Amino acid sequence: MSEYHLTVLLQQTVDALNVRENGIYADCTGGGGGHSAEILSRLGERGRLVVLDRDPDAVAVLRARFGGDPRVAVVHSEFGALRSVLDSLGIGLVDGVVADLGVSSHQLDDPARGFSYRYDAPLDMRMDPGSGITAAQMLAEIDERTLTRILFQYGEERYSKSIARAIIRAREKKPVETTFELSEIVKSAVPAAARRAGQPARKTFQAIRIALNHELDTLEESVNVMFDCLAVSGRLAIITFHSLEDKVTKHCMTEFCRGCDCDPSAPICTCGKKPRARLVFRSVVPDEAELETNNRARSARLRAAEKIRMSVYDD
Ligand SMILES: C[S@@+](CC[C@H](N)C(=O)[O-])C[C@H]1O[C@@H](n2cnc3c(N)ncnc32)[C@H](O)[C@@H]1O
Ligand SMILES: [Zn+2]
Repeated sequence: MSEYHLTVLLQQTVDALNVRENGIYADCTGGGGGHSAEILSRLGERGRLVVLDRDPDAVAVLRARFGGDPRVAVVHSEFGALRSVLDSLGIGLVDGVVADLGVSSHQLDDPARGFSYRYDAPLDMRMDPGSGITAAQMLAEIDERTLTRILFQYGEERYSKSIARAIIRAREKKPVETTFELSEIVKSAVPAAARRAGQPARKTFQAIRIALNHELDTLEESVNVMFDCLAVSGRLAIITFHSLEDKVTKHCMTEFCRGCDCDPSAPICTCGKKPRARLVFRSVVPDEAELETNNRARSARLRAAEKIRMSVYDD
């Protein structure tokens, strides 16, 4: 695929969608278009693909790549708005939805975006630079307790307390405005052994990015929106890169598949709940060959579910 982004779990994800020749599909996280291109290669002339991304840079790349294909619509949008995007295109239900969460390598590797501790740049980190506050603004306003919690939860950072304290102290002297300033503060706040062990700022950058872009706040709601957009036999495939993202995804998929939850000793069901889906598989992770060529695949996990006809399960 293009240099924009090395697609993770490419075949496994598109296989999980079980693409039908004339089906309608939505790629909620277009990025460089890796999954989209594979879906298109399996779609016939009358198939359709709706590609979303919240990042205008990605949208420009996707339009350049797929703009000439009459089967494709590229839309600048949050995936939580999938229902209204489909409405605006006159599409009802779709046969498959894919979401490959998190950031693309392009976002990480573009020094100007401020996502990476490897390049000195203004501390921005917004996936959509047209909306919301920058990471620098967030660090100027946040209180120490909230910052500690963010670093601990989203970064699984064991030195969250001392890093948060160091950031708050540093900003009393001077606002934290660049990636290098932030990574120097983190270095000063962790023990020497942690500094020697690798890049000590990695988890802090990840945590701030997740919080700033509200990546986990609305995930459960968005996964439900995606599922609701599926026709019967439609498939939902989600790739996560973080244990909390995976926890939310797993919880949603389990809920879709859950049937009666009455006490097993009860003579009859009184809850009336029917499963709305079945798991395509429990979860899939990249194989050795993929891990060797793509370091970013290390933490990837794919889950997939298929919407089922509820009446089959009716009494
Ligand atoms: C991991 S990349 C996807 C890469 C893509 N599958 C490929 O093969 O090139 C994730 C993309 O999702 C986008 N994204 C993240 N959260 C989003 C959201 N809530 N709504 C829409 N797009 C989102 C990011 O801007 C980024 O371009
Ligand atoms: Zn029941």
